Amino acid sequence: MSLTPIGGASGSSSHEPRHKITAASLQEHKLQHNPITCLTAYDYSAARLIDEAGIEMILVGDSLAQTMLGYENTLSVTVDEMLHHVKAVRRGVKSALLIADMPYGSYQIDPKAALSNATRFVKEGGAEMVKIEGGEKRADLIHRIIDAEIPVAGHIGLTPQSVNVMGGYKVQGKNLSGVEQLMRDAVALDRAGVACLFLEGIPREVAAMITAEVSTPTVGIGAGPECDGQVLVFHDLVNLTFGTPAKFVRHFADAGQLIRQAVQAYCAEVKAHKYPADEESYHLPKETRTGLETVLARKRAMRR
Ligand code: KIV
Repeated sequence: MSLTPIGGASGSSSHEPRHKITAASLQEHKLQHNPITCLTAYDYSAARLIDEAGIEMILVGDSLAQTMLGYENTLSVTVDEMLHHVKAVRRGVKSALLIADMPYGSYQIDPKAALSNATRFVKEGGAEMVKIEGGEKRADLIHRIIDAEIPVAGHIGLTPQSVNVMGGYKVQGKNLSGVEQLMRDAVALDRAGVACLFLEGIPREVAAMITAEVSTPTVGIGAGPECDGQVLVFHDLVNLTFGTPAKFVRHFADAGQLIRQAVQAYCAEVKAHKYPADEESYHLPKETRTGLETVLARKRAMRR
Protein backbone atom coordinates (compact mmCIF):
# COMPACT_ATOMS: atom_id res chain seq x y z
CA MET A 1 0.00 0.00 0.00
CA SER A 2 1.03 3.59 -0.51
CA LEU A 3 3.10 5.17 2.24
CA THR A 4 1.06 8.36 1.78
CA PRO A 5 -2.30 7.70 3.40
CA ILE A 6 -5.28 9.42 1.86
CA GLY A 7 -5.96 11.02 5.24
CA GLY A 8 -2.57 12.77 5.20
CA ALA A 9 -1.91 16.45 4.70
CA SER A 10 -1.67 16.10 0.92
CA GLY A 11 -5.18 14.71 0.85
CA SER A 12 -6.82 17.53 2.74
CA SER A 13 -9.08 19.99 1.05
CA SER A 14 -8.45 23.70 0.88
CA HIS A 15 -12.19 24.30 1.36
CA GLU A 16 -13.45 26.28 4.34
CA PRO A 17 -15.06 24.14 7.07
CA ARG A 18 -18.75 23.74 6.27
CA HIS A 19 -21.83 23.67 8.46
CA LYS A 20 -22.99 20.21 9.42
CA ILE A 21 -26.08 19.27 7.43
CA THR A 22 -28.83 17.87 9.61
CA ALA A 23 -32.33 16.54 9.06
CA ALA A 24 -33.59 19.98 10.16
CA SER A 25 -31.47 21.85 7.62
CA LEU A 26 -33.09 19.95 4.75
CA GLN A 27 -36.35 21.70 5.52
CA GLU A 28 -34.57 25.06 5.24
CA HIS A 29 -33.38 24.10 1.78
CA LYS A 30 -36.94 23.42 0.67
CA LEU A 31 -38.25 26.67 2.13
CA GLN A 32 -35.47 28.71 0.51
CA HIS A 33 -35.69 26.87 -2.84
CA ASN A 34 -32.04 25.94 -2.45
CA PRO A 35 -31.66 22.59 -4.27
CA ILE A 36 -30.38 19.71 -2.14
CA THR A 37 -27.48 17.72 -3.58
CA CYS A 38 -27.08 14.04 -2.81
CA LEU A 39 -24.83 11.26 -4.08
CA THR A 40 -24.30 7.69 -3.08
CA ALA A 41 -20.96 6.61 -1.59
CA TYR A 42 -19.85 3.20 -0.49
CA ASP A 43 -16.30 3.58 0.78
CA TYR A 44 -14.00 5.91 2.71
CA SER A 45 -12.07 7.55 -0.13
CA ALA A 46 -15.08 8.31 -2.34
CA ALA A 47 -17.07 9.51 0.69
CA ARG A 48 -14.28 11.84 1.71
CA LEU A 49 -13.88 13.31 -1.77
CA ILE A 50 -17.64 13.76 -2.14
CA ASP A 51 -17.97 15.34 1.30
CA GLU A 52 -15.04 17.70 0.71
CA ALA A 53 -16.55 18.71 -2.64
CA GLY A 54 -19.49 20.15 -0.73
CA ILE A 55 -22.37 17.70 -1.14
CA GLU A 56 -25.29 18.00 1.28
CA MET A 57 -26.34 14.36 1.68
CA ILE A 58 -24.50 11.07 1.21
CA LEU A 59 -26.52 7.91 0.82
CA VAL A 60 -24.98 4.50 1.36
CA GLY A 61 -27.46 3.01 -1.05
CA ASP A 62 -28.24 -0.67 -1.38
CA SER A 63 -27.26 -0.04 -5.01
CA LEU A 64 -23.84 -1.04 -3.70
CA ALA A 65 -25.06 -4.60 -4.28
CA GLN A 66 -24.62 -3.88 -7.99
CA THR A 67 -21.97 -1.15 -8.16
CA MET A 68 -19.58 -2.58 -5.56
CA LEU A 69 -20.44 -6.24 -5.17
CA GLY A 70 -21.47 -7.14 -8.72
CA TYR A 71 -24.88 -8.61 -7.88
CA GLU A 72 -27.60 -8.50 -10.52
CA ASN A 73 -30.01 -6.55 -8.30
CA THR A 74 -30.22 -5.13 -4.79
CA LEU A 75 -32.16 -7.99 -3.21
CA SER A 76 -29.34 -10.12 -1.86
CA VAL A 77 -27.36 -7.52 0.06
CA THR A 78 -27.56 -7.99 3.85
CA VAL A 79 -27.61 -5.66 6.86
CA ASP A 80 -24.08 -6.77 7.78
CA GLU A 81 -22.78 -6.07 4.28
CA MET A 82 -24.46 -2.64 4.31
CA LEU A 83 -23.04 -1.89 7.74
CA HIS A 84 -19.52 -2.68 6.57
CA HIS A 85 -19.86 0.07 3.94
CA VAL A 86 -21.73 2.53 6.18
CA LYS A 87 -18.88 2.39 8.72
CA ALA A 88 -16.27 3.06 6.02
CA VAL A 89 -18.28 5.99 4.64
CA ARG A 90 -18.83 7.37 8.15
CA ARG A 91 -15.06 7.68 8.56
CA GLY A 92 -14.87 9.84 5.42
CA VAL A 93 -17.82 12.17 6.05
CA LYS A 94 -17.70 15.33 8.14
CA SER A 95 -20.35 17.77 6.95
CA ALA A 96 -22.83 15.90 4.79
CA LEU A 97 -25.86 14.18 6.27
CA LEU A 98 -25.23 10.43 6.23
CA ILE A 99 -28.13 8.20 5.22
CA ALA A 100 -28.05 4.40 5.33
CA ASP A 101 -30.33 2.40 3.08
CA MET A 102 -32.19 -0.42 4.82
CA PRO A 103 -31.75 -3.45 2.57
CA TYR A 104 -34.45 -5.83 1.37
CA GLY A 105 -35.63 -8.12 4.18
CA SER A 106 -34.42 -5.86 6.97
CA TYR A 107 -37.77 -4.11 7.54
CA GLN A 108 -40.46 -5.96 5.59
CA ILE A 109 -40.82 -8.99 7.87
CA ASP A 110 -41.34 -7.77 11.39
CA PRO A 111 -41.53 -4.22 12.84
CA LYS A 112 -39.41 -5.17 15.87
CA ALA A 113 -36.64 -6.50 13.67
CA ALA A 114 -36.98 -3.38 11.50
CA LEU A 115 -36.49 -1.15 14.53
CA SER A 116 -33.56 -3.17 15.73
CA ASN A 117 -31.92 -3.06 12.25
CA ALA A 118 -32.50 0.69 11.97
CA THR A 119 -30.89 1.11 15.39
CA ARG A 120 -27.84 -0.86 14.24
CA PHE A 121 -27.28 1.57 11.36
CA VAL A 122 -27.23 4.46 13.84
CA LYS A 123 -25.34 2.80 16.71
CA GLU A 124 -22.82 0.68 14.81
CA GLY A 125 -22.69 2.50 11.46
CA GLY A 126 -22.95 6.10 12.60
CA ALA A 127 -25.78 6.86 10.16
CA GLU A 128 -27.91 9.92 10.87
CA MET A 129 -30.94 8.73 8.93
CA VAL A 130 -32.19 5.49 7.42
CA LYS A 131 -34.02 5.09 4.12
CA ILE A 132 -36.94 2.77 3.58
CA GLU A 133 -38.60 1.90 0.27
CA GLY A 134 -42.38 1.87 -0.09
CA GLY A 135 -45.35 4.16 0.23
CA GLU A 136 -48.43 4.28 2.44
CA LYS A 137 -48.06 0.65 3.52
CA ARG A 138 -44.79 1.63 5.26
CA ALA A 139 -46.21 4.71 7.01
CA ASP A 140 -46.83 3.03 10.40
CA LEU A 141 -43.42 1.42 10.47
CA ILE A 142 -41.74 4.70 9.53
CA HIS A 143 -43.65 6.45 12.30
CA ARG A 144 -42.36 3.85 14.81
CA ILE A 145 -38.77 4.27 13.70
CA ILE A 146 -39.02 8.06 13.95
CA ASP A 147 -40.52 7.55 17.41
CA ALA A 148 -37.28 5.75 18.32
CA GLU A 149 -35.41 9.00 17.48
CA ILE A 150 -34.19 7.85 14.07
CA PRO A 151 -34.93 10.21 11.17
CA VAL A 152 -36.26 8.36 8.14
CA ALA A 153 -36.08 9.08 4.41
CA GLY A 154 -38.95 7.69 2.36
CA HIS A 155 -38.48 6.30 -1.15
CA ILE A 156 -41.36 5.87 -3.59
CA GLY A 157 -41.91 5.37 -7.31
CA LEU A 158 -39.53 2.93 -8.97
CA THR A 159 -38.39 1.13 -5.83
CA PRO A 160 -35.68 -1.35 -6.88
CA GLN A 161 -36.42 -3.74 -3.99
CA SER A 162 -39.83 -4.35 -5.64
CA VAL A 163 -38.25 -5.35 -8.96
CA ASN A 164 -39.96 -8.75 -9.00
CA VAL A 165 -43.39 -7.27 -8.26
CA MET A 166 -42.95 -4.46 -10.79
CA GLY A 167 -41.73 -6.95 -13.41
CA GLY A 168 -38.57 -4.98 -14.08
CA TYR A 169 -37.25 -1.47 -13.57
CA LYS A 170 -40.18 0.48 -14.99
CA VAL A 171 -41.13 4.12 -14.67
CA GLN A 172 -44.06 4.29 -12.22
CA GLY A 173 -47.11 6.58 -12.17
CA LYS A 174 -47.72 6.73 -15.90
CA ASN A 175 -51.50 6.25 -15.74
CA LEU A 176 -54.13 7.98 -13.61
CA SER A 177 -54.40 5.27 -10.97
CA GLY A 178 -50.62 5.15 -10.74
CA VAL A 179 -50.49 8.91 -10.25
CA GLU A 180 -53.19 8.73 -7.55
CA GLN A 181 -51.30 5.95 -5.76
CA LEU A 182 -48.06 7.95 -5.80
CA MET A 183 -49.86 11.01 -4.40
CA ARG A 184 -51.37 8.86 -1.62
CA ASP A 185 -47.94 7.35 -0.88
CA ALA A 186 -46.26 10.76 -0.73
CA VAL A 187 -48.91 12.28 1.53
CA ALA A 188 -48.91 9.26 3.87
CA LEU A 189 -45.13 9.39 4.29
CA ASP A 190 -45.19 13.17 4.72
CA ARG A 191 -47.74 12.75 7.51
CA ALA A 192 -45.65 9.96 9.06
CA GLY A 193 -42.88 12.54 9.38
CA VAL A 194 -40.19 11.52 6.87
CA ALA A 195 -37.24 13.94 6.86
CA CYS A 196 -37.10 13.76 3.07
CA LEU A 197 -38.68 11.76 0.29
CA PHE A 198 -36.77 10.12 -2.54
CA LEU A 199 -38.74 10.04 -5.80
CA GLU A 200 -37.33 7.54 -8.27
CA GLY A 201 -38.36 6.85 -11.86
CA ILE A 202 -41.58 8.84 -12.11
CA PRO A 203 -42.82 11.39 -14.68
CA ARG A 204 -41.57 14.91 -14.12
CA GLU A 205 -45.14 16.23 -13.89
CA VAL A 206 -46.00 13.84 -11.05
CA ALA A 207 -42.80 14.64 -9.15
CA ALA A 208 -43.62 18.35 -9.48
CA MET A 209 -47.13 17.77 -8.07
CA ILE A 210 -45.78 15.76 -5.14
CA THR A 211 -43.09 18.36 -4.44
CA ALA A 212 -45.72 21.11 -4.32
CA GLU A 213 -48.06 19.02 -2.16
CA VAL A 214 -45.80 17.72 0.62
CA SER A 215 -43.94 19.72 3.23
CA THR A 216 -40.99 17.33 3.31
CA PRO A 217 -38.20 17.96 0.77
CA THR A 218 -38.28 15.68 -2.28
CA VAL A 219 -35.06 14.31 -3.75
CA GLY A 220 -35.40 13.04 -7.29
CA ILE A 221 -33.61 10.46 -9.40
CA GLY A 222 -35.21 10.13 -12.80
CA ALA A 223 -38.00 12.39 -11.54
CA GLY A 224 -37.27 15.66 -13.33
CA PRO A 225 -35.94 19.05 -12.25
CA GLU A 226 -38.82 20.28 -10.07
CA CYS A 227 -37.83 18.16 -7.06
CA ASP A 228 -36.32 19.94 -4.05
CA GLY A 229 -33.06 18.09 -4.65
CA GLN A 230 -31.37 15.51 -6.84
CA VAL A 231 -29.55 12.27 -6.14
CA LEU A 232 -27.35 10.21 -8.44
CA VAL A 233 -25.48 6.97 -7.99
CA PHE A 234 -21.80 7.94 -7.74
CA HIS A 235 -20.79 5.27 -10.26
CA ASP A 236 -23.21 6.78 -12.79
CA LEU A 237 -21.90 10.29 -12.15
CA VAL A 238 -18.34 9.32 -13.05
CA ASN A 239 -19.08 6.49 -15.51
CA LEU A 240 -17.86 3.56 -13.48
CA THR A 241 -20.77 1.41 -14.62
CA PHE A 242 -21.11 -1.10 -17.41
CA GLY A 243 -23.98 -1.32 -19.86
CA THR A 244 -26.48 1.20 -21.11
CA PRO A 245 -27.26 3.94 -18.57
CA ALA A 246 -30.83 4.95 -17.70
CA LYS A 247 -32.27 8.00 -19.47
CA PHE A 248 -31.73 10.33 -16.49
CA VAL A 249 -28.04 9.48 -16.05
CA ARG A 250 -25.52 12.12 -16.98
CA HIS A 251 -21.81 11.25 -16.82
CA PHE A 252 -20.16 14.31 -15.30
CA ALA A 253 -16.75 12.66 -15.75
CA ASP A 254 -15.35 9.49 -17.30
CA ALA A 255 -13.46 7.78 -14.51
CA GLY A 256 -13.89 4.43 -16.28
CA GLN A 257 -11.83 5.64 -19.23
CA LEU A 258 -9.35 7.37 -16.91
CA ILE A 259 -8.79 4.15 -14.95
CA ARG A 260 -8.42 2.02 -18.10
CA GLN A 261 -5.87 4.47 -19.52
CA ALA A 262 -3.96 4.65 -16.24
CA VAL A 263 -3.78 0.84 -15.98
CA GLN A 264 -2.63 0.51 -19.61
CA ALA A 265 0.02 3.19 -19.12
CA TYR A 266 1.23 1.50 -15.92
CA CYS A 267 1.48 -1.92 -17.61
CA ALA A 268 3.36 -0.44 -20.58
CA GLU A 269 5.87 1.35 -18.33
CA VAL A 270 6.48 -1.76 -16.22
CA LYS A 271 6.98 -3.93 -19.34
CA ALA A 272 9.39 -1.33 -20.76
CA HIS A 273 11.37 -1.21 -17.47
CA LYS A 274 10.48 2.48 -17.20
CA TYR A 275 8.59 2.18 -13.94
CA PRO A 276 9.78 2.69 -11.28
CA ALA A 277 12.40 5.26 -12.32
CA ASP A 278 15.46 6.02 -10.21
CA GLU A 279 13.68 9.01 -8.58
CA GLU A 280 10.91 6.64 -7.53
CA SER A 281 13.33 4.24 -5.82
CA TYR A 282 14.75 4.29 -2.30
CA HIS A 283 18.51 4.56 -1.96
CA LEU A 284 21.02 3.46 0.61
CA PRO A 285 22.44 6.23 2.79
CA LYS A 286 25.92 7.32 1.67
CA GLU A 287 27.78 5.68 4.63
CA THR A 288 26.00 2.37 4.10
CA ARG A 289 26.76 2.46 0.39
CA THR A 290 30.44 3.14 1.05
CA GLY A 291 30.52 0.31 3.62
CA LEU A 292 28.78 -2.04 1.24
CA GLU A 293 31.17 -1.19 -1.58
CA THR A 294 34.10 -1.98 0.72
CA VAL A 295 32.59 -5.35 1.69
CA LEU A 296 31.90 -6.24 -1.95
CA ALA A 297 35.41 -5.20 -3.01
CA ARG A 298 36.84 -7.44 -0.26
CA LYS A 299 34.72 -10.36 -1.42
CA ARG A 300 35.81 -9.85 -5.01
CA ALA A 301 39.45 -9.76 -3.93
CA MET A 302 39.05 -13.02 -1.95
CA ARG A 303 37.54 -14.73 -4.97
CA ARG A 304 40.57 -13.92 -7.14
O1 KIV B 1 -29.65 2.54 -3.47
C1 KIV B 1 -29.59 3.63 -4.04
O2 KIV B 1 -28.58 4.05 -4.60
C2 KIV B 1 -30.80 4.45 -4.01
C3 KIV B 1 -30.82 5.70 -4.83
C4 KIV B 1 -30.93 5.37 -6.25
C5 KIV B 1 -31.89 6.64 -4.39
O3 KIV B 1 -31.74 4.09 -3.38
